[in-house]
Amino acid sequence: MIVSMPDCARIIQSIAIIYAFIALLYTTSYFLASPLRVSLPLLLNLSSATLSNSSVSSLLSALDRQDSLQSSPHQKSLGSPTYIDNDLFLSKAFSNSLHPSKIIPFFYRASSNFEADDITITTLITSNRFPVFARLVERYQGPISVTIHVKNNSSDYHELLDSIHALYLSTPNMARFVDVHLVMDSFDRQFNTWRNIARLFARTDFVMMLDIDFAICTDFRSAIRANQAVMDKLREGNSAFVIPAFEYVNQERGRQQSSFPTDKTTLLSSVKGGHLAMFHASWEVGHNSTDYPRYYAAPPGEIYKVTKYQAAYEPYIIFKREGPPWCDERFVGYGGNKAACLFEMYLSGVSFYVLSDHFIVHQNHAYEEKARKDERKFNRKIYADFKEETCLRYLVTHYHDLDILDSTQGYNLQAECTKLKAFPRLARKVWSSSNDWS
Ligand SMILES: *[C@@H]1O[C@H](CO)[C@@H](O)[C@H](O)[C@H]1NC(C)=O
Ligand SMILES: *[C@@H]1O[C@H](CO)[C@@H](O)[C@H](O)[C@H]1NC(C)=O
Ligand SMILES: *[C@@H]1O[C@H](CO)[C@@H](O)[C@H](O)[C@H]1NC(C)=O
Ligand SMILES: *[C@@H]1O[C@H](CO)[C@@H](O)[C@H](O)[C@H]1NC(C)=O
Ligand SMILES: *[C@@H]1O[C@H](CO)[C@@H](O)[C@H](O)[C@H]1NC(C)=O
Repeated sequence: MIVSMPDCARIIQSIAIIYAFIALLYTTSYFLASPLRVSLPLLLNLSSATLSNSSVSSLLSALDRQDSLQSSPHQKSLGSPTYIDNDLFLSKAFSNSLHPSKIIPFFYRASSNFEADDITITTLITSNRFPVFARLVERYQGPISVTIHVKNNSSDYHELLDSIHALYLSTPNMARFVDVHLVMDSFDRQFNTWRNIARLFARTDFVMMLDIDFAICTDFRSAIRANQAVMDKLREGNSAFVIPAFEYVNQERGRQQSSFPTDKTTLLSSVKGGHLAMFHASWEVGHNSTDYPRYYAAPPGEIYKVTKYQAAYEPYIIFKREGPPWCDERFVGYGGNKAACLFEMYLSGVSFYVLSDHFIVHQNHAYEEKARKDERKFNRKIYADFKEETCLRYLVTHYHDLDILDSTQGYNLQAECTKLKAFPRLARKVWSSSNDWS
């Protein structure tokens, strides 16, 4: 087959993309297996003595201390013969994010030592959500890794650091369970970067990607850890477990977390009574792949597979920290960002399973409506391109390089990518490159 020039350029381009992707995966796993894992937590050694001092200046001097720590030989060593400092490493790890930006992992480090097979909640908070976060910490009683964005060109930047400090001191459980990572820059709503930071620095093998405004109603953490079959699937890395999300029809009731149901029987009667409903019923595709009718009918203990996945699905899931794809950091602002994380996981071969005994309930609050509307419109276009690009990327790796397109792992990719209008064009490209270049 004769390759025309534009085709040829596209093939070279896709090979370059794949190469960059593999290179990134390689470097990421290399560093995760290296002493960086040990050295990063040491970045900021805030003992409880420092914590009792609530002045901003102590925080800032802690930052200075971090800088000097970083230049110590111990912090630079990542095992001979490679020497790399943390800022350089982080700039590579987050090279798709907006710059300049400073990431400070473990600005606060929880005192607990977590078991490797525990589940860390990874999340992001903005300053107006601090009270809600405090409730989550009290409720979960387990490891939490949170990214906080500090907008460093705003005039209240010092007050924000102060309020983070006050938040951390507000309950002893913060210091027991919560690791705080800071991102200091002038860019709002880089949600996927912040999600990846919380996941990268989680200290357990499994993570839950959760939005801060959800109340944890049932003890899925203990249930999962006690279930050998679920733990085995988590370890394999090709399964993610969905905790179904609900919200109150009446806004006011959604503000009273103390009255939220804590068992499925109560949940079902609230749903029947018309008080609770699936989360974001007005944006049905966000959650309806969870199949709520099936969830309501499921007998205790049932775990069922999501069989009606579609690309807007954005459930709250528990999965393996290392292995599944990371959230694409090119998404900034509202719309598509979380769905993009889930889409790429699904395409890579991760299947979703619903834990039918468990649920979370949204705590109502006001959204920034104007920003949401504008950014959603913009991100819809980006998401459409992203789907094509991701399909092409995984078609090449799954079909061409790894030859697993026809395996169970390749099923999701086939099912989802063939829905795209551009699929015939993409498939032809992969075909012709395999005929001409192999
Ligand atoms: C961190 O703090 C602990 C307790 O105060 C101390 O024993 C340890 O030496 C400190 N480590 C570093 C690297 O400063
Ligand atoms: C709190 O920090 C300030 C500034 O670093 C320092 O002068 C002061 O002694 C500290 N107070 C305590 C109780 O450590
Ligand atoms: C904000 O942080 C970035 C990245 O660290 C830095 O380049 C910039 O100068 C900072 N801006 C202010 C106003 O401090
Ligand atoms: C901070 O930076 C953003 C983006 O660069 C800009 O829109 C905003 O006006 C800046 N704020 C201040 C207080 O300088
Ligand atoms: C989800 O909602 C969309 C749009 O209303 C509909 O087309 C689709 O069939 C629904 N899926 C499920 C599993 O209910």
